[in-house]
Amino acid sequence: MSDSKAQLARLEINGRKCEFPVLTGSEGEQSVDIRRLRKETGLTTFDPGFVNTASCQSAITYLDGEKGILRYRGYPVEELIKICNFIDVAYLLIHGVLPNEQVRNDFARLLNRHSMIHESMRTFFDHFPENAHPMAILSAMVVSLSSFYPEMESDQEGVDMAATRLLSKIRTIAAFSYKKSIGEPVVQPSYKLSYCENFLNMMFASPVANYKLDPVVVRALDQLLILHADHEQNCSTSAVRLIGSSGANLYASVSAGICALWGPAHGGANQGVIQMLERLQAEGGDAKKIIDRAKDPNANFRLMGFGHRVYKTYDPRARIAKQLCEEVLGKLGINEPLLDLAMKLEQAALSDEYFIERNLYPNVDFYTGIIFRAMGIPTDMFTVMFAIGRLPGWIANWLEWMSDPAQKIGRPRQLYVGPKKQKVPPRKQGGF
Ligand code: ACO
Repeated sequence: MSDSKAQLARLEINGRKCEFPVLTGSEGEQSVDIRRLRKETGLTTFDPGFVNTASCQSAITYLDGEKGILRYRGYPVEELIKICNFIDVAYLLIHGVLPNEQVRNDFARLLNRHSMIHESMRTFFDHFPENAHPMAILSAMVVSLSSFYPEMESDQEGVDMAATRLLSKIRTIAAFSYKKSIGEPVVQPSYKLSYCENFLNMMFASPVANYKLDPVVVRALDQLLILHADHEQNCSTSAVRLIGSSGANLYASVSAGICALWGPAHGGANQGVIQMLERLQAEGGDAKKIIDRAKDPNANFRLMGFGHRVYKTYDPRARIAKQLCEEVLGKLGINEPLLDLAMKLEQAALSDEYFIERNLYPNVDFYTGIIFRAMGIPTDMFTVMFAIGRLPGWIANWLEWMSDPAQKIGRPRQLYVGPKKQKVPPRKQGGF
């Protein structure tokens, strides 16, 4: 968002002075526009991890890591979570406005209409190994959708249909991968059920027993998905945009986002938190021991669910998740020792100098795993749950990239530090 009276940033290099405009976003944050830097100076910028680099302009999500603010299309996530369901928020992120009753119902019906997956795709599940991680299955199945529904490459209508198919089918794929992992037949989606009810039913019903939908669990799922729905240019969303920038289709781009999310430094941390808490429990619950290990630079261990690239205060999603966790466990009458351990660990970390100095606070993943567990979701499905929630954000970002006239193929530079030109030696017997 440039402004005619924009401030200028001045750079002097080898006696040469250059000026670069300073762009101002709608919340007042500023960014030096260095697009002409290399052309004018021959220099690149060096910014590993893109810590200081705004890769795009975006009108989808705003977050302030110092103040702990998170808004989707301007609406605070704390307010959305109270009155919206996941379908409202998915629509908001993708279309930019909250749907009225009619639009929301039509959207929900449309999602139900596309909830089955092609019968030939169903046979794919039979060929993954028994212990395949559901994130591997999810990413493979999502990219496979492009071969079953290739029409999206044609026009805008096709792209919209791909977004709808993806949103709808991701829960079917996720639930089928779980059924496969426990050796049970799949349960098909039903037009009679809502988005979240459908997912829970496909996960937990079986041909021999119905699943009794508990409104507390359904609402908790809606809220957890909303909590994960978008988070501006994080690792997986940047992956979706980067892959999309080459012109790759939506399914391929989202599949890359799923792979990026899988890592323990990103969405895989929710699984890591529960594993860490279980270990803590097995070792007698001594929080200090685990804190000391996280502080030890040689231990190759981090406190899972703690720290964030952008938040230097309490992650607002973690605050909501903690409250939700207490509420849901209370309503379900579950006494979860891992929650007590998590709170003990949080308290110990927040009063430890190491964590205070580095502004390390709980992030979204710290409490969500305990809620998923209370809902009956197995630990290795936690990151899949994150992916289902994040999907509207990925789609919205991919669509925004598609319609942004300023976007180019993503292609960072590097600072080469390898050998200078050298002559290839003659090949001798036994190699070089
Ligand atoms: N436990 C212990 N120390 C930590 C932690 C942690 N969880 N997180 C950061 N630190 C330390 C680092 O060791 C480093 O210390 P140093 O300055 O002495 O070297 C300092 O804090 C800064 O850490 P960086 O790695 O530079 O921070 P960065 O912004 O690159 O990393 C990240 C952020 C990846 C989230 C990191 O905090 C982490 O690994 N956390 C644990 C995994 C996790 O919970 N991931 C989920 C993030 S939320 C999400 O993606 C949905």
